[in-house]
Amino acid sequence: MRRHLHVVLIYNACRGAAPEMPEDNGSTDELRKFVRHLARVIRRLGHRVTLLPLANDLMKFQRRLTRLRPDVVFNQYDDVVHGALYEMRVAALVRMMGFPMTGSSALALGLCRYKYMAISLLQGAGLPVPPDSRMIERIGDVDRHHWKFPAIVHPAQEHAGIGLGRESVVHSARAMRDQVRTILREYRQAALVQRFLPGREFNIGLLGGQRVRVLPFAEVNYTKLPPELPPIMSYAAKWLTNSVEFKKTSVICPSAVEPKLARRISRLAIDAFRAVGGWGYGRVDIRLDENQQPHVLEVNCNPCVEEGVALARSALAAGISYPRMLQMILEAALERPPFDVDVPMLPALR
Ligand SMILES: Nc1ncnc2c1ncn2[C@@H]1O[C@H](COP(=O)(O)OP(=O)(O)O)[C@@H](O)[C@H]1O
Ligand SMILES: [Mg+2]
Repeated sequence: MRRHLHVVLIYNACRGAAPEMPEDNGSTDELRKFVRHLARVIRRLGHRVTLLPLANDLMKFQRRLTRLRPDVVFNQYDDVVHGALYEMRVAALVRMMGFPMTGSSALALGLCRYKYMAISLLQGAGLPVPPDSRMIERIGDVDRHHWKFPAIVHPAQEHAGIGLGRESVVHSARAMRDQVRTILREYRQAALVQRFLPGREFNIGLLGGQRVRVLPFAEVNYTKLPPELPPIMSYAAKWLTNSVEFKKTSVICPSAVEPKLARRISRLAIDAFRAVGGWGYGRVDIRLDENQQPHVLEVNCNPCVEEGVALARSALAAGISYPRMLQMILEAALERPPFDVDVPMLPALR
């Protein structure tokens, strides 16, 4: 790989591009701070970095990207404003222009947001997923199935804990109908309903291209959570710093897992990541059922790459520093997924 690259760091500058509430730690300002820090660290690796925000002017974005002619685009475009399709649309645009891009392809990014599709695909690939996973588009459809409780009701096209709260884990068909109604009306999307798995929960970080590396496991610790609250990574647990959920939920990394189970979890994480077409870096959420059997909850193809938390924390537990992790992400982008052809549709500059 060339030592000095021109990296264009793209991100969503739309107001509300990160979940935003008064006590949130995920505000737009935080996002800007993070992006600037990311750029500084990549510069220290010896690369040239240009920040390229995208808010609403796609044509301007495309013109600027055309002029910048990056060696690689560092993709931090995350979208909770326009809906689940936009991450994949932006990624597709970059690749159609012929630029290498960090992380996963448009298709994989789309799949990760369409949870029912991803779960169905993983199930089709023979991987264990939560039982009774169904998409519900009308409240009446709840009664077409025989459910085992507890179950969990998610929005079918979200991420970042959006739409997951105290009412999401349900113990009766009636409570399920109420929660499905909330998702349909307030989140304007279908609900994904599945069996609630009560066991240990792990976030498995993955790093690399063809030779993907499983990082030390992170485990969510719910033991301090009051028993009346459901043990889930809800919106509050992820973002609302003043909530009980946030204060009483922590992450242990590295977490101790007996070797046989650890091998199964590692294999499962890689297989799930590959099945959805993930590349470069990712995080697979896995949870054990009541018999200690692991199941894939979801594959995150665009996980948080902030310093000191999540993927970066797992990398550090493997002795991979933050700058080194970013360098590995860039290297995987230049390595390219197999069979990825470039036919740039890039106009000549006038
Ligand atoms: N079937 C399930 N059984 C148990 N817990 C679940 C299940 N599905 C989701 N959860 C809990 O909800 C959290 C968020 O769900 P997830 O599918 O990972 O969505 P998000 O994209 O919001 O992270 C998980 O981290 C887990 O704590
Ligand atoms: Mg998750």
